[in-house]
Amino acid sequence: MSTGFFLLLLLMLCASSVRAQRRIDFISIDCGSPSKLYEDTDTNITYSPDGDYIDTGINQNISSEFMYPKNPNLPLPLSDLRSFPQGNKNCYTLKPEAGNGSLNLIRATFLYGNYDGENKLPEFDLYLGVNFWSTVRFENASDIVTKEILGFAESNTVDICLINKGLGTPFISALEFRPLNGSTYGTEFGTSASLVLIERLDIGQGNGTGRYGDDVYDRIWSRHSSPSWDPVSTSSSITTYENGYRVPLEVIRTAATPQNASEPLDLYWNTTDMNAQFYVFMYFAEVEKLGKNQSRKFNISLNGSPLFGPFTPRYLQADVISNSRVLVGKDHEISLHKTEDSSLPPILNAVEVFQVMQLVESPTYGEDADAIKNVKTTYQIKKIWAGDPCGPRNFSWEGLECNYSISLPRIISLDLSNNNLTGPVPQFLEELKSLTLLNLKGNQLSGSVPNALRERSEAGLLVLSVDTKNLCGSGSCKKKKKIVAPIVASLVAALAVVIVLMLVWKLRRKRESGTEAEPFNKTAIASKKCQFTHEEVLDITKNLQTSIGKGGFGTVYHGCMKDGTQVAVKMLSASSTQGPREFQTEAELLMRIHHRNLASFIGYCDDANNLALIYEYMANGNLKNSLSDAERSSQMTWETRLHIAINAAQGLEYLHHGCKPPIVHRDVKTANILLSENLEAKIADFGLSKVFASDIETQVVSTVMGTAGYLDPEYYNCQRLNEKSDVYSFGVVLLELITGQPAVIKSDEVIHIVTWVSSELEKRELKSVVDQRMQEEFDEHSVWKALEIAMACTTSTSQHRVTMDVVLSELKNCLEMELSRHRERTPTSTEELRAAFGPYNHSSPEVLSMCTDSTNVDSVTGPFPR
Ligand SMILES: *[C@@H]1O[C@H](CO)[C@@H](O)[C@H](O)[C@H]1NC(C)=O
Ligand SMILES: *[C@@H]1O[C@H](CO)[C@@H](O)[C@H](O)[C@H]1NC(C)=O
Ligand SMILES: *[C@@H]1O[C@H](CO)[C@@H](O)[C@H](O)[C@H]1NC(C)=O
Ligand SMILES: *[C@@H]1O[C@H](CO)[C@@H](O)[C@H](O)[C@H]1NC(C)=O
Ligand SMILES: *[C@@H]1O[C@H](CO)[C@@H](O)[C@H](O)[C@H]1NC(C)=O
Ligand SMILES: *[C@@H]1O[C@H](CO)[C@@H](O)[C@H](O)[C@H]1NC(C)=O
Ligand SMILES: *[C@@H]1O[C@H](CO)[C@@H](O)[C@H](O)[C@H]1NC(C)=O
Ligand SMILES: *[C@@H]1O[C@H](CO)[C@@H](O)[C@H](O)[C@H]1NC(C)=O
Ligand SMILES: *[C@@H]1O[C@H](CO)[C@@H](O)[C@H](O)[C@H]1NC(C)=O
Ligand SMILES: *[C@@H]1O[C@H](CO)[C@@H](O)[C@H](O)[C@H]1NC(C)=O
Ligand SMILES: *[C@@H]1O[C@H](CO)[C@@H](O)[C@H](O)[C@H]1NC(C)=O
Repeated sequence: MSTGFFLLLLLMLCASSVRAQRRIDFISIDCGSPSKLYEDTDTNITYSPDGDYIDTGINQNISSEFMYPKNPNLPLPLSDLRSFPQGNKNCYTLKPEAGNGSLNLIRATFLYGNYDGENKLPEFDLYLGVNFWSTVRFENASDIVTKEILGFAESNTVDICLINKGLGTPFISALEFRPLNGSTYGTEFGTSASLVLIERLDIGQGNGTGRYGDDVYDRIWSRHSSPSWDPVSTSSSITTYENGYRVPLEVIRTAATPQNASEPLDLYWNTTDMNAQFYVFMYFAEVEKLGKNQSRKFNISLNGSPLFGPFTPRYLQADVISNSRVLVGKDHEISLHKTEDSSLPPILNAVEVFQVMQLVESPTYGEDADAIKNVKTTYQIKKIWAGDPCGPRNFSWEGLECNYSISLPRIISLDLSNNNLTGPVPQFLEELKSLTLLNLKGNQLSGSVPNALRERSEAGLLVLSVDTKNLCGSGSCKKKKKIVAPIVASLVAALAVVIVLMLVWKLRRKRESGTEAEPFNKTAIASKKCQFTHEEVLDITKNLQTSIGKGGFGTVYHGCMKDGTQVAVKMLSASSTQGPREFQTEAELLMRIHHRNLASFIGYCDDANNLALIYEYMANGNLKNSLSDAERSSQMTWETRLHIAINAAQGLEYLHHGCKPPIVHRDVKTANILLSENLEAKIADFGLSKVFASDIETQVVSTVMGTAGYLDPEYYNCQRLNEKSDVYSFGVVLLELITGQPAVIKSDEVIHIVTWVSSELEKRELKSVVDQRMQEEFDEHSVWKALEIAMACTTSTSQHRVTMDVVLSELKNCLEMELSRHRERTPTSTEELRAAFGPYNHSSPEVLSMCTDSTNVDSVTGPFPR
């Protein structure tokens, strides 16, 4: 009795602390509200006016016919709005308390309500930072449109921008910002993708509002049921705090089961976009107390392929299940099938469906952004300068021009003319190091031009336009004349001289050093043999008939050359995460690199906007798919897996030690290891590769690239990149081959494969880590040794990691051990072994000038001995 009371009390305490927490770090903005803070009595949420978050736009009220009392259900924050008749891009800037890298839910709400009396529905675009989020369209003037996104903050501030597309004035009614637990809603893209909400369903027959005080993240749930389902529910409490998702009680308490127990419970959704990518989060809790002879057990499949199961929801405990790999395509169906030994039908309590938004655009280079923001505050510029200075593309700040052909956009031109600017020319304009044009005319600036600007102008690197009246060059005013009159023709001439001098100097230097590699150049690419027109590519792929996969670049299609050779054609898509720059990098590298364990390059297409790479066709797809496919992975013996590991290691070893300068792949992962018909492995996707000068061991890189789960933690933290980063990623691949688990394991909690293996290995139990699909058919010493190699590859400090040549020779030892187990039955000679792992296959003499051949055994191409 007394314990019961005590428990109840504890629950009440928890509930009240939840409510308190809900207010602290929420940002709730009633856009267009002139008044002070107020608490919305419907939701108990405190809304603030928007003046602190934006300095453009005007406040408006919706027309009275859409307001109370004619519309008694109108949420209070939607009765007014802020509209943006001026400027193409207007942005709210929020500062998440948890700062850079935090995961947040952002919800924007729009109600037109004929606020402008024009009765014309506008259409405009919504951006999160520099990346497209959604288009806002209305059915009618009373249509309430809500857009929600879950995304990681890319800096200490988050910009929500409205873009005028010429289809009416953008506006916004409410903006809500809710911090989430950063370990929830994970995707295989890590922080480089956001999730746009499609549906958030509370399954069953609840009677709440959909927005619950005990939802610590203030998600809004829509009730959903079907005539072929039976509702089930409980009034007991359900434990929801075990995982970070914290589904509210009202939602998890109600659920549904199919009326006919032998039928599955299905949920279907579709889209018009063939390339749309989705994540689904399903919530389960058993709400019925099952009898001794009752059981509930079911399999979950997505689009007909098994996702999870058999699964038994725990009694009064909430669990969440999601797809670990992204779902791609137009039509999607979740099916919950009861297993044969289950007496009860499947159950589903709640589900969320999100579409992936890849963060393809980059914000402006940090120093440039800081400098221009300083200009804005110092001069109190009256222009609409909101959000990121350069992005999104085509929507840079007025008067600014940016160079987007580099990884982070830089400001190259700044026009501040006729802005009534007074005072001295500020020093921080010097920080705009890529500036080639600066126009300060039509202002009342005084004092002198900062030295660095003057020097760059004199060197012909910067065209500087200033009024001569009040402004002097540093020192005498005689010098000023030289700066002030920008005679373009002479500048061009000066530039030409500089360029010629630099070329001569470079050539000289090269001849002197001698060992330096040929610089990559366009002419190498342009060799006719390898170049195809877009028409030819369409011909080869039969008009892109058969898609065989999707990579960082875009879609890969099957094709057939005139001579019958099968090929894989990688088309660069507009929405790809890699851009034309990476395309060129890849094409240039592939032209020069030939090795039997690197995907062979047949040619490329570089017609105007159509970019494509043509590779040899690898019949068995990539290693990631093979490992996750139940049937194919169960056919992969330990020996096969070792062959694959050795092939991949040979490819990498060649990049690191056979090429001068060495090449760091930067995106080694199972998805980038392709398998031929006879399971010979080749490394693909050089889009992220970077060529290193041979004398520089490590290099600081500006942006971390790669794939979550494979990223070297040292590279990630310190942005120091060298060959050892690939070694780390290779270690992860090796662990996947041994364990059959993905790099990021998602069960009850998300855990990295390295962490998982190390904790399992503390038990010194090989069985618990080795892929069960190998059915213990292996030499234990061989597997132990491979595990040791993998752990030596994945130490957190690169200094302690082994090099690829060591990895390769150790892996060959593993294979020897495994083969000697067989030898009792089927003897294998060392000759055969050498044939399988022989020397590099040079298909072109050009290679010799670039990559050294470290072995002198005769070249052999051929399948594995099987
Ligand atoms: C909107 O309505 C409020 C309250 O009725 C009023 O105080 C405010 O001035 C109105 N704003 C505009 C822009 O008309
Ligand atoms: C306006 O559009 C919404 C969404 O399509 C619809 O639910 C509502 O009934 C419409 N209202 C009127 C008055 O047509
Ligand atoms: C935000 O964090 C990312 C990665 O942690 C880092 O690359 C970036 O420079 C940070 N941005 C700012 C403005 O601190
Ligand atoms: C909501 O449903 C619960 C359980 O089904 C019931 O106890 C409660 O009275 C209902 N509340 C309202 C307001 O209908
Ligand atoms: C708002 O607060 C009141 C008083 O604390 C409470 O009774 C009510 O349930 C709350 N409403 C919501 C939606 O949380
Ligand atoms: C986030 O969720 C994880 C479990 O998924 C939990 O261990 C952690 O405490 C949560 N963090 C916060 C701040 O609630
Ligand atoms: C239940 O579904 C099964 C399989 O689809 C079907 O054979 C059976 O007739 C259904 N039972 C009822 C009562 O509809
Ligand atoms: C989506 O599914 C519905 C119902 O099956 C169908 O009517 C509609 O045409 C589909 N839409 C698309 C874009 O495929
Ligand atoms: C449990 O099993 C017993 C005997 O087999 C049977 O009589 C009873 O109806 C079963 N109960 C349920 C709930 O199925
Ligand atoms: C459920 O999945 C398991 C393996 O995950 C499989 O063995 C079983 O046949 C499946 N059952 C049904 C009914 O699909
Ligand atoms: C500059 O100042 C003049 C006179 O004070 C004023 O007429 C003009 O509008 C101002 N221009 C800008 C761009 O603010």
